[in-house]
Amino acid sequence: MKQVKLESILEGLKKHGIEGADAAVILGSGLGDFATLLENRLDIPYATLPGMPTVSVAGHAGTIHYGTIGTKKVLAFGGRFHSYEGYPMEVTLALVHITHRLGIPKLIISNAAGGISGRLQVGDLLLITDCMGPNLSYGLRGTPKATRRFDNVPLRSRILQLATDEGIVLQHGTYLYVSGPTYETKAEIRAFRIMGADVVGMSTAPELAEATRLGILTIGITLVTNMATGVSTGKLDHSEVKETAENRKEDFGRLVSRLIQTEL
Ligand code: 6GU
Repeated sequence: MKQVKLESILEGLKKHGIEGADAAVILGSGLGDFATLLENRLDIPYATLPGMPTVSVAGHAGTIHYGTIGTKKVLAFGGRFHSYEGYPMEVTLALVHITHRLGIPKLIISNAAGGISGRLQVGDLLLITDCMGPNLSYGLRGTPKATRRFDNVPLRSRILQLATDEGIVLQHGTYLYVSGPTYETKAEIRAFRIMGADVVGMSTAPELAEATRLGILTIGITLVTNMATGVSTGKLDHSEVKETAENRKEDFGRLVSRLIQTEL
């Protein structure tokens, strides 16, 4: 189903006792293990929620996880709806809209993306400080003079502080959103680098824009799972890459659970 029926989804969640939370997390490819950090966890497959679009990409479970981290109630979305699967933007933004309608004040949006900047290597975690690409004003159609911002300074400075406390290296940079479905050509990546992009991916940026528009405190975190086309992979061999990525998933979990537990 390529439609979203917000009212029925909210109704379905209510039947499971979900009427709000302290924070929501959208889990990118490979970051689904975060759900195991939730205590007293309830798993609700998207497919069992009337009105919820269905997920078609491998590696995305398509499950809503609800549970606690410390004293905080957390809703985690395992699986999202990408434009490259043929979904309209309204469906791509459904998870943000659910978060908004549940009155959840904080949203952490994660993704796996390709590294463009020479400062990055596979396994790096990166805080998204700005975005570029198509469709980032989608929610602002009809308000031509509106301003669009990616300036969630309080959450950002908090997560950078927490990363330092935890000894986790957290890069920062600009996320270039492309609608896919194909990866880029070498020429495109060369051009994107000149344009100022640090990472490239097919999600997150429209969601960040929409969440910000709706007044949700939001940040985006990227796991660099590979370097983009034509970018050298640096010094790591394959097994090191795998190991790094595994460690970074743990770092991601630690960082996000601390961020959720911290008051701003
Ligand atoms: Cl290299 N490109 C895009 N568009 N998405 C990605 C990626 C690259 N690597 C992971 N996701």
